[in-house]
Amino acid sequence: MRQKLLSGGASELSYEIREIVKKAEQLKKVGVEISWENIGDPIQKHHQMPVWIKDIISDLMKQDDTYSYCPSKGMLETREFLAKQTNALNGVQINADDICFFNGLGDAISKVYQFISRTSRVIGPSPAYSTHSSAEAAHAAHEPITYKLDPNNKWYPDLDDLYNKVKYNPNIVGILIINPDNPTGMVYPLETLKRIVQIAKEFNLFLIADEIYINITYNGTRAYSLAEIIEDVPGISMKGISKEMPWPGARCGWMEYYNRDKDKDFNKFCQALDNAKMIEVCSTKLPQVAIPKIFGDARFRPYRELTNQRIGRRSKIIADILHTVPQLTFNETFGAFYNTIIFRDGTLKPEQSMKISNAQAKTLVESWVNDEEGKPMKNMPMDKRFVYYLLAAKGVCVVPISSFCSELQGFRVTLLEEDEQVLAKTFGNIRDGIIEYLAS
Ligand SMILES: Cc1ncc(COP(=O)(O)O)c(C=O)c1O
Repeated sequence: MRQKLLSGGASELSYEIREIVKKAEQLKKVGVEISWENIGDPIQKHHQMPVWIKDIISDLMKQDDTYSYCPSKGMLETREFLAKQTNALNGVQINADDICFFNGLGDAISKVYQFISRTSRVIGPSPAYSTHSSAEAAHAAHEPITYKLDPNNKWYPDLDDLYNKVKYNPNIVGILIINPDNPTGMVYPLETLKRIVQIAKEFNLFLIADEIYINITYNGTRAYSLAEIIEDVPGISMKGISKEMPWPGARCGWMEYYNRDKDKDFNKFCQALDNAKMIEVCSTKLPQVAIPKIFGDARFRPYRELTNQRIGRRSKIIADILHTVPQLTFNETFGAFYNTIIFRDGTLKPEQSMKISNAQAKTLVESWVNDEEGKPMKNMPMDKRFVYYLLAAKGVCVVPISSFCSELQGFRVTLLEEDEQVLAKTFGNIRDGIIEYLAS
């Protein structure tokens, strides 16, 4: 090429949640039956949309108007509806103009970091949900800056770590919160959120809260929204329908801008985000039109509550199966639908393995984890090796936690399997696999 083609940030783009699927597909081809515990798609795990929701959507599809473009920031009626919902929390107040729609929250996430000055950084949690950490790192062409979530303290953020990193790195302009969290299933306690707001105030930062799971909590826990605790700090809440409705295939998410009037740089930043959407014309219209009709229906809340209760039951089933394994650090989850399970220090070793009965699958896995001399591949994280063995030996597809910007060794599972017997069997297989692998 005449000039350098690829930007420095491109090497920061990776998404193990989908990469692992390529390996699983190879194993499937040689006859391994796969249980997909890697991706947070309730529909793929057999969740059925209630008929009344399907009826609303099919009625909308019969109207010609649904097929046109919509305003760049999104349907006005829908933005008004959402602003009203946020205002009812009695915290920060917004209007329709403070909301902008995107093609899924993934689209919103890539835009938000794209327009931050290259040298300015947003610190986010570790383990990190890689859509955020990769997009933020790609904008800066540098590895992500993270604060620790502590597996020995219910995965709550290590606030001293956050404070010190913010204090000693003047490039940090923002703090990311994912509440409830992916990949840990942790829900930020109110006091922690308040402290993060104080840190933002002290250092003149803005906040980003990914709240795509804000209404998915269970077993006695509720999540506090950014709108409730932000006071006069500038911030962006990110929300969507992929998990809550759930309609991930609709590709529909939005940003809510809080306290635009409190900081003129922040206001310009929000304007740039709106403009970026304008040059694309607009985002997906059908789900936007459906939002007030579905979220505003009296049947929605009971449906969501029931769905949450079921996730809560599954969280307990998984806890019963795994929390007794002494080599693991296991935390029960209270929000979202993932859990991150950590191997205690020193339990994973480079040469461990699991018995793989399918000969072709065994050959494949050995080619992934060993070098030409049959020795463990040098740069392969030990949790990734475990994940490959679990995939081939037990047919369970999970994601290694080292690929979530974390120094910890472990794996992420989902809580989405709706059939409790299948769920118990899958997690029984995971437990047996762990015990065998660690004893090998
Ligand atoms: C924390 C978080 N944010 C954003 C997304 C992306 O959502 P969407 O389907 O709206 O792009 C996900 C999807 O798993 C997620 O877990």
